[in-house]
Amino acid sequence: LTPLRIGVAGLGNVGATLVRILQKDGVELTRKLGRQIEVTAVCARSRSRDRKIDLSGVTWFDDPVALAKSDDIDLFVELIGGEDGPALAAVKAALEIGRPVVTANKALLARHGVALARLAEEAGTQLGFEAAVAGGIPVIKTLREGLGSASIARVYGIMNGTCNYILTRMGNEGISFAECLKDAQALGYAEADPTFDVEGYDTAHKLAILASLCFGCEIAPDEIFVEGITRISQADIKVAGDLGYKIKLLGLARRSADGIEQRVHPTLVPKSSAIAGVDGVLNAVALETDHVHELLLAGPGAGGPPTASSVLSDILDIARGTKVPPLGVPSAELTPYVQAPMREH
Ligand code: HSE
Repeated sequence: LTPLRIGVAGLGNVGATLVRILQKDGVELTRKLGRQIEVTAVCARSRSRDRKIDLSGVTWFDDPVALAKSDDIDLFVELIGGEDGPALAAVKAALEIGRPVVTANKALLARHGVALARLAEEAGTQLGFEAAVAGGIPVIKTLREGLGSASIARVYGIMNGTCNYILTRMGNEGISFAECLKDAQALGYAEADPTFDVEGYDTAHKLAILASLCFGCEIAPDEIFVEGITRISQADIKVAGDLGYKIKLLGLARRSADGIEQRVHPTLVPKSSAIAGVDGVLNAVALETDHVHELLLAGPGAGGPPTASSVLSDILDIARGTKVPPLGVPSAELTPYVQAPMREH
């Protein structure tokens, strides 16, 4: 078989890690896939930055749209970030010509996921987004393959590694919010604009994507009640601890009589609960279904290697011809749920 030629747009933490993994594990991946995977083209703002990867022989593009449409690649990987701008233009350009796309961009999907999924379907191609929700945890695959027949009543979890890392260190070590955030940025967990993390918007983006998959509802991040962690003080964490609780930033979506209720806010969780043990940069997604009751998936939620590993799993799936799940396409068999307003519980 001819090699699978990959174009990577965006060589930040995740992009550079992906290229490094593809280079380091190339032989093993070729064995798994029965076909060589090769990064043939890239696009990034700086050509001179030392990313500790070998880009000799790789074609450089300045324009991600030109890379997305280039004849040098078979699959386009978008790791630029941002909900509009070059990321959107490039993903559209690739899908329009029937080229498969893999993205880790939850902001883009929360805003344009349905339109992009429809575009992919019309063009007979695939849009992979495992890395967009909960980093290295294969939650999209689980929804697709593990729980295909189950009816989901509720999905909730810790979906932002930066916030969980901050809350954990504030609680365990008494370190200030600002210092914890600085460390989360240095470790490559935070968004380029960390307001998205700490104000809860990143969690809302991921929750909207998950809710769409779980319930077949539209993706509507702006409808979600969102409160981040910037007002949580060390005193709050201490008092919660004394009462037997930890504070976690949770995203939650569930069926209610009025539709699909979705919300993001700091939540008191009993120390004895499984989710309370999910500390540091770990994420956890709990799925409550009619058959398995609660399934809790936990694992690394942010950072280069876990996120790149989810990107890679989509690349392998698409290369093998496995169908990635449709996103935010309301099913005719499902009641067309609307967002429910947040109520007291
Ligand atoms: N900034 C995100 C987080 C990255 O901290 O979870 C992974 O989506």
